[in-house]
Amino acid sequence: MYNFVYNIPTKIYFGGNQISNLGKELKKFGNRVLLCYGGGSIKKIGLYDEVVEEIKKAGLELFELNGIEPNPRVTSVKAGAEICKREKIDVLLAVGGGSVIDCTKAIGAATFYDGDPWDLVIGKAKIEKALPLVSILTLSATGSEMDIFGVISNMDSNDKVGFASKEVLPKVSFLDPKNTFTVSPYQTACGSVDILSHIIETYFNQEESMYMLDTFMEGMMKTVIKYAPIAMKDPKNEEARANLMWTSSWAINGFVSACQTCTWTCHPIEHQLSAYYDITHGLGLGILTPRWMKYILDETNVERFYNFGVNVFGIDKNLESMEVANKSIEMLEKFLFEELGLKKHLSDLGIDETHFEIMAKKACNDGILKGFKPLNQKDIENIYKMCL
Ligand code: NZQ
Ligand code: ZN
Repeated sequence: MYNFVYNIPTKIYFGGNQISNLGKELKKFGNRVLLCYGGGSIKKIGLYDEVVEEIKKAGLELFELNGIEPNPRVTSVKAGAEICKREKIDVLLAVGGGSVIDCTKAIGAATFYDGDPWDLVIGKAKIEKALPLVSILTLSATGSEMDIFGVISNMDSNDKVGFASKEVLPKVSFLDPKNTFTVSPYQTACGSVDILSHIIETYFNQEESMYMLDTFMEGMMKTVIKYAPIAMKDPKNEEARANLMWTSSWAINGFVSACQTCTWTCHPIEHQLSAYYDITHGLGLGILTPRWMKYILDETNVERFYNFGVNVFGIDKNLESMEVANKSIEMLEKFLFEELGLKKHLSDLGIDETHFEIMAKKACNDGILKGFKPLNQKDIENIYKMCL
């Protein structure tokens, strides 16, 4: 029951001035580096110049792929893989948020695949091998800097799909909280909700869990709830940024999930929102999570909510379990919609019922979405409707 394999071999350089180690780390994998980045934030914050200087100092050859989109597209994966094949790239360097790192992971895998890279995303073909990846994180949210996952969108078919392979796990990641000082209050809020959601998806499970891991998760949730509002109001608060950054990595790197096999719920439901409406992942999770909680809460699972309420939000442990559970959802809503200021309704984003049926069908893969409480298509449609 308590069997698991713990193997997270990503080397982390945490903190300032660590970038001086970049050239040395890249060199271990070869001389030809493809630098991948997004829409230009890394140039605005001066990180691009620093990275190029380090690469030049190390005598490495530099190639570039820019313009990777938030909710990265499979078209960018194809463009990157073509460069890797043509230029015989040895190592990938992703500089950015989760979108850039995810896309670069897929590029690394697609370099060793002759067919359509989308096959690797949807699991039609297996990822056998990938180019080594080094990342420099600029936004605390997804945990992509230290995990085996990637999420890619195909806007032609309104699909957003996650893939997993230990081949794409970053070899080295540079985590300097200062690189997140310029993240806007909105993206800070969304990223923090993503971190929180990764923990909630793991914490709310029906399997026997380890007290030690539950306690870790409660501490991590409290960390996000404490520091996200501080980072929004005071963007250069290094303590807040550092706490969010390290929590982002540990929320999803396999440590807290350990022996659990329980699958996630809010993420597959949210990915449909991003696939159809290209919304920010963390915003969708923020709108969905409390509604999902209200929908599934009952006598059979109330104890989990009780622990959540007492240990994370400090609700009086002497109250009745159901009262604590309901209060915990209220407190979560207050945090999301008042403290972080996120939009509360899908209708606030111009989303209506039009696609709910097909989105719900895709979210449960035309069957049952397992997880904390199994949900069918109708259940998921109901949850979307509660968010309107
Ligand atoms: O594109 P640039 O110019 O870099 O701007 C980005 C982007 O517009 C900006 N940004 C990033 N760092 C910044 C900054 N702006 C100012 N200063 C900085 N230091 O922020 C915007 C959003 O970036 P993005 O990378 O899209 O955000 P995030 O890190 O939240 O990544 C979201 C993507 O990751 C997927 C999501 O579904 C979504 O596609 N996920 C990946 C996971 C994983 N790999 O394990 C798990 C997650 O659950 C999630 O699904
Ligand atoms: Zn997420």
